[in-house]
Amino acid sequence: MTPIQSCILNKNTRIKPVWIMRQAGRYLPEFRRIRKDNKDFIKLCLNKKIIPKITLQPLNRFDLDAAIIFSDILMIPYGLGQNVQFSKELGPQLGDLKIDKISSKSKVNFTNILKPIYSSLQNVSKNKLLKNKDLIGFVGSPWTLLVYMLNKSSPKKNLKKKVFKDKILIKELFKIIVDFTNLHILQQVKSGATLIQLFDSWAGLVSDSNLEDYIYIQNKKIVDFTKKLNVPVICFPRGIKNYSKFVNNVKPDVISIDYDTDPKIIKKNIDIPVQGGMNPKILLGDKNQIKKGANKYIEIFRDHPYIFNLGHGILPETKPEMLEYLIKVIKNG
Ligand code: CP3
Repeated sequence: MTPIQSCILNKNTRIKPVWIMRQAGRYLPEFRRIRKDNKDFIKLCLNKKIIPKITLQPLNRFDLDAAIIFSDILMIPYGLGQNVQFSKELGPQLGDLKIDKISSKSKVNFTNILKPIYSSLQNVSKNKLLKNKDLIGFVGSPWTLLVYMLNKSSPKKNLKKKVFKDKILIKELFKIIVDFTNLHILQQVKSGATLIQLFDSWAGLVSDSNLEDYIYIQNKKIVDFTKKLNVPVICFPRGIKNYSKFVNNVKPDVISIDYDTDPKIIKKNIDIPVQGGMNPKILLGDKNQIKKGANKYIEIFRDHPYIFNLGHGILPETKPEMLEYLIKVIKNG
């Protein structure tokens, strides 16, 4: 059994497996070199020759316990027929949402569009670098995808509140997103993903009165579906105030915490395996700070099944040597 599976299924507290969100990304010079020659990000995410290479880049350098398929949560809106583009200055830019077009999307056509992702998973899962390691598939949670599809750009800079007023549209859109998200998970698992992570990056935007409808119920639909496939599922509801309420409602196998959350309170109130938490900014500091930052989480979760990760994606300015050092600290105590 892989270290991560042993941590999740056997509640093994002795091993502290590690992988890093955005481990295949812009902080790696070898990724930036490929990116320079592939200006269209969506095309890159559909290139079955290059996806496996990028996915394995961090495993060639570091002693990680999992690979995460190089892709993006916005491949679902793209597969549904909404235009998606990435601009260096503005981040993701989506086209107008045409609900009629999206509602009539066939599952066969969606699967065909995203096929390079599935064949890349098949390819990577056979690689010997993956021996005794997990291959992580992922999706954006329904709320986070709905935010991008309606807002058409990151809500970080500009949240267009009025597009979230049409409750009928929201209900219809949730239904489509859930159906196709489950299909995307099914295809990833069939192609060799051994673990699924749900990214609810914008969970923190939801008011208490909408948490049930927009966060708990929607994540639970995906979690229940994934559990039926016999694959463990990790939830990352970033920015949510009450993680234990989320866990009690959604019941994932693992809860991934953000860096604003107090790990001591999590340890006290949550029984299931925990992942992540350390602020990615700590990796921009010196080795002493990194050691201190990592040991804080290792100490708190000493007697708890814990998968080491960060509290959000690794920052593009991170020096790869610093990640190498972090992993050494985790593995050697
Ligand atoms: O973790 C991994 O290494 C796997 C690959 C991965 C990417 N995106 C590749 C990527 C994963 C798991 C994601 C998830 C993702 N994508 C999320 C959820 C996690 C989070 O950050 O909250 C979100 C919200 C997106 C949407 C997205 N994709 C944004 C907002 C951006 C632009 C801003 C940014 O951080 O770069 C992307 C682009 C993107 N996705 C890049 C990568 C490596 C950078 C592309 C580039 O080279 O410019």
